[in-house]
Order: sequence, then structure tokens, then C-alpha cells
Amino acid sequence: MMDKDKITLIRRGHIAFQLMNVAVQHKLFDILSAEPNLTLEELTPKLGLQHRPARHFMRALVALGLIDKKDGKFSNPPAVEQYLVSGKDAYVGGEVLQHEKLEYLSLSRLAASLEANTNLGLDLVLTGEGKTVYERMHLTKDRKLQELFYKGMGGHSRRTVENFLKSRLDLSKFKHVLDFCGGDGTNAIAIARAHPHLKITLLDFPTVCELAARNIEAAGLSDRIKTLGRDIHKEPVPTGFDAMFLFHCSAMVSMETWQGILQRCYDALDPGGTLVLYHLICNDDDTGPMEAAFLSIYFIAITTPEGAIYSGAEHGAALKACGFEDVQRLEMPISHELMWATKPR
Ligand SMILES: C[S@@+](CC[C@H](N)C(=O)[O-])C[C@H]1O[C@@H](n2cnc3c(N)ncnc32)[C@H](O)[C@@H]1O
Repeated sequence: MMDKDKITLIRRGHIAFQLMNVAVQHKLFDILSAEPNLTLEELTPKLGLQHRPARHFMRALVALGLIDKKDGKFSNPPAVEQYLVSGKDAYVGGEVLQHEKLEYLSLSRLAASLEANTNLGLDLVLTGEGKTVYERMHLTKDRKLQELFYKGMGGHSRRTVENFLKSRLDLSKFKHVLDFCGGDGTNAIAIARAHPHLKITLLDFPTVCELAARNIEAAGLSDRIKTLGRDIHKEPVPTGFDAMFLFHCSAMVSMETWQGILQRCYDALDPGGTLVLYHLICNDDDTGPMEAAFLSIYFIAITTPEGAIYSGAEHGAALKACGFEDVQRLEMPISHELMWATKPR
């Protein structure tokens, strides 16, 4: 329910985000996780701040609820321990840093992007050839920025792939999976580890494949996960796969383009093969949820000229229109849906 505090939080949302961002940058949550119940005097030198700014910074964090204060001593609330302490499974700090670098400034062009119906925010953070953030990230010479971008994305995928692996979709029947637009390899590595019989081919832009290949090698999985550098809009979908996994990539394009991609995947998939979709979705009646609806705004203002988050009903209809049969839908945590369908023999 909306109340005065929530209106203040939204009105001052820029301050709330920057407080979290600075706390992550200065490793405040890591410090308090290792050493809870520190006083301001003990904490200030560890943050690398002077007393005056540290006092006001900590007071605002306490007011926001990101830090607890009792008897003059600071500690992390349980949810902060879970999500904002680096190294924890559910850690979202990498995404906070990515939001700061990529989204914060560019969101100031939200009104213009909505009015012009295109992603005018992108130019504020990344110029160059290409209309999508992915095309520009692929072509950028700034490899540090590229790595940060994919690290943030990988952080999100690390949390969601664990849920995927616990689902009732049976992966034991697959032999060779195409990880379509597989990013930095986070999903492929987790899936290959959990299913040692599987071979996986990760397809993405060539420079992203280089990054993924480094991660795959570091995980010791280069013999089972190969990479294939391709532009999905310019080159054919490869054949020879009994399963294709399309995770978090539908939002990059319009529903019409997505339908065309699904059709090309259908045509390339082995007869009897399975196509798997796993991503955030919006409610069928466009009422949220917040995580998916917010991500859609990120796509509209920054990421692509035509992408957005779609509903499960739209995806189901698109799969059926391609000729897929036995479409299964499974509601998943973090506003995700897992959907799979079979190509007839
Ligand atoms: C939102 S990310 C999802 C990555 C991965 N599937 C995951 O779940 O973490 C979309 C991916 O599509 C890739 N991509 C975007 N446009 C592409 C294109 N034209 N050709 C090949 N890959 C593309 C991006 O590089 C990025 O890795």
C-alpha cells in the first residue's frame, strides 16, 4: 500500500540508491559481516572516510533500514547479510555497481526515451556503432566496462540458474545443448557441473565468447563447453542440437523479432528436440510484478530500441505459432518463468 514513507523513498530514490552504491563500493557490508557491532569511531577509518561524512552517511543508512544501530553499534540486518555481503550465493552487489555505471545517468533520459519510443539513454554511457547495449559492448575497446557489464549479468544468472537446476525439467535426456546468447558462461558452467553427461555449445558475439571461454577454462570445463561466436541477426542458428536453452534473451527484441528467432531455432533443432525458455516475465494482465516491470523500463530507456519484458501468455502463443507442441509453463522464484516445448519428430 502506498503511504507517505514510500512516497518519500521513491521521491528520494536517487539518494537511496547512491547510499547503497557507496556502501557496496566502500565494502561497508563486508566489514560489518566480518566484524559486527562496530561503533562509528571503529568503523570510520575502515571506510576510509572522515568523521563528519561517515556520521551522516551511517545515519542515512540506518534511516533507510540498510544498517541496524543498537546501543551506538552498527550491524547488518539479516537480508543485507544475505544479499549484500560479497561471496554470498545471493549477492547482488555486482549488479549495484553495474546499475551505477550503466543505468544511473542514462535513466535521466527515460522521459525522452518513452516519448521517442527508443533507447535514448544508451548514448549517455556508451557511444559507438550499434543500436543495442550488446552490440556496443561487443564492439567496445573498453574491455573493463565489458567485463563489468557481463559480471553484473552473470551475478543475476548465478542466482537464477540455481533455481533452474532444482526445477522438474529433466535434463538427463539431453545430449548436446545450444546455450543461445549464453553471455559469460555462468549458466553453461553451472549446468555442466550439475549434469556431467551434457555437452554444451555457448553461442554469443565473438568478443563475449572470448570472455566466456576464459571463465569456462577457469572452471576446468573446456572439454565439454565450446563457444561459437555468431551474430544471431546475421548468421544462421547452428544445427545438431537436441535441446536449445534461451535464457534471459527475449527482452532484447520486439515480439515480432522474437517470434522470428524462435522460428529459426525451431527449424534448426533436431526433430523431437526441446526448446527451453527461462526469463523474467510480466503478469499476463500487465500488472507487474515490480522486478519484471522495472527491468522492462531498463530495456526501453537504455538497452535496445525495441525490446521489453513480455508475458508468459505471449511466449506460449509464440512457441505454438512456430509449431512447437506440449508447451509447459512453470512459475519460478524471482518473477521468472520456465517454459519448454517439443519439436514434433
Ligand atoms: C540478457 S543477456 C543473457 C545472457 C545469458 N543467457 C544469461 O542468462 O546470463 C543477452 C545475451 O545476448 C547476447 N546478444 C545480444 N545480441 C546478440 C546478437 N546479435 N548475436 C549474438 N549474441 C547476442 C549478449 O551478448 C548477451 O550475452
